[in-house]
Amino acid sequence: MTKRVFIKTYGCQMNVYDSARMAELVAPLGYTPSETAKGADLVILNTCHIREKAAEKVFSELGGIRRLKDAKEKRGERMIVAVAGCVAQAEGAEIMRRAPFVDMVFGPQSYHRLPEMVARATRAAGPTGQARGLEAHGILETSFPAEAKFDHLPESAAATEVSALLTIQEGCDKFCTFCVVPYTRGAEFSRPAAQVIAEAGRLVAGGAREITLLGQNVNAYHGAAPDGGEWGLGDLLCALARIPGLDRLRYTTSHPRDVDDTLIAAHRDLPQLMPFLHLPVQSGSDRILLAMNRRHTADDYRRTVQKLRKARPDLAFSSDLIVGYPGESELDFRATLDLVAEIGFAQAYSFKYSPRPGTPASAERQLPEPVKAERLAALQSLLREQQRAFNGAAVGTTMPVLFERRGRHAGQLVGRSPWLHPVHADAEPDQIGALVPVRIVGVRSNSLTGIVDGLEAAAQ
Ligand code: SAH
Ligand code: SF4
Ligand code: F3S
Repeated sequence: MTKRVFIKTYGCQMNVYDSARMAELVAPLGYTPSETAKGADLVILNTCHIREKAAEKVFSELGGIRRLKDAKEKRGERMIVAVAGCVAQAEGAEIMRRAPFVDMVFGPQSYHRLPEMVARATRAAGPTGQARGLEAHGILETSFPAEAKFDHLPESAAATEVSALLTIQEGCDKFCTFCVVPYTRGAEFSRPAAQVIAEAGRLVAGGAREITLLGQNVNAYHGAAPDGGEWGLGDLLCALARIPGLDRLRYTTSHPRDVDDTLIAAHRDLPQLMPFLHLPVQSGSDRILLAMNRRHTADDYRRTVQKLRKARPDLAFSSDLIVGYPGESELDFRATLDLVAEIGFAQAYSFKYSPRPGTPASAERQLPEPVKAERLAALQSLLREQQRAFNGAAVGTTMPVLFERRGRHAGQLVGRSPWLHPVHADAEPDQIGALVPVRIVGVRSNSLTGIVDGLEAAAQ
């Protein structure tokens, strides 16, 4: 009998990558993917702990899942419920306490043991789900095992998306004072270059034309090189650019401190490396950057952006920004607005500072909520303006679009421009996976519309 697995993913793209691996791990046990929790035999919530609301969403989702599980058990059927990811890592015991119907809780470094955990949970649940034995209290797996999970993952599936994700680096040693990642993902670890190149090769063989390299600190990458030395991200990108059929490379998320000359040269030399870079700055005030332990100044950031733009003049930037960090004055906030105005971002994420348990900044005196809200609104209005200007400038130009999937309207495909704009255009379905020149004719709130080059003339 086939069983169904439903995986809900929160948070960053690294969780998206991990969820895909989890689906692959349980496939040999007979689990096929399900679009909904209803009817699923195994439900996995792959969680994020980066801000307060992220964790609360998980607890509210668990309420609904409990009802589904109860209903299933009344029918004599079984549902295994798992909480994975960063909330699991940070609050494993709390989840077991608040939601005792959860069968297993495991962190991001333990999910390669999923098949074994599912087998244990199945035995513990018994045939009807009633007769819970030794493991009545569920399975908690939140250690940071010394062995790398990547050595224990199955080789990624043969068929893949046109645009694929590939985790090359995990964890973080930077300890910014606001951030939970070093606690949930553990110490920095880089996968050996040969392992990454082999996985990229399989993805391309399976149909990927674009790969986004992932890491919490992706440009801190320092993996074992095939020749026995060590490679940084720039070296790795050069090697990946030699894979035939791999047309586009991207990487995220990078830290301003780790943008080195080799990486800048890669932006200059590799046409495959797309001209869009997510480079979080967090604040424009040196006082706040220091308090955040970011270990760079606003001027360092300006200089890095300048060097990158010199290497690749069409490079567009996106960023992450935090407002209302403890101690942020009106003057500090102005400095953030000034920096944003000066750089000109294509797009950016901005957040109110959210105190995270166990992080140093959470113990500081917090700013009043209305101050945070007001600053966020002002910053977002500036960012929206910049995004509108950036998208507007695309109109009238022709750009190569990599079509990824069908659009919502019949006959329409959706793809990405080099600058990561989603682009909608009428095109044949066999152009999914093709790089096609598209003339941009319109802007919607978050995307562009275009006409495939040549089609316009054909229609006249
Ligand atoms: N590794 C990346 C960021 C990972 S977290 C980096 O170093 O830049 C993604 C973003 O969430 C961060 O860039 C930050 O802007 C935001 N963030 C992290 N912790 C936060 C907190 N406690 N409150 C508000 N925003 C936070
Ligand atoms: Fe968090 Fe800072 Fe590490 Fe980014 S660099 S993951 S913000 S601690
Ligand atoms: Fe969230 Fe963990 Fe990613 S906290 S942002 S899922 S690393």
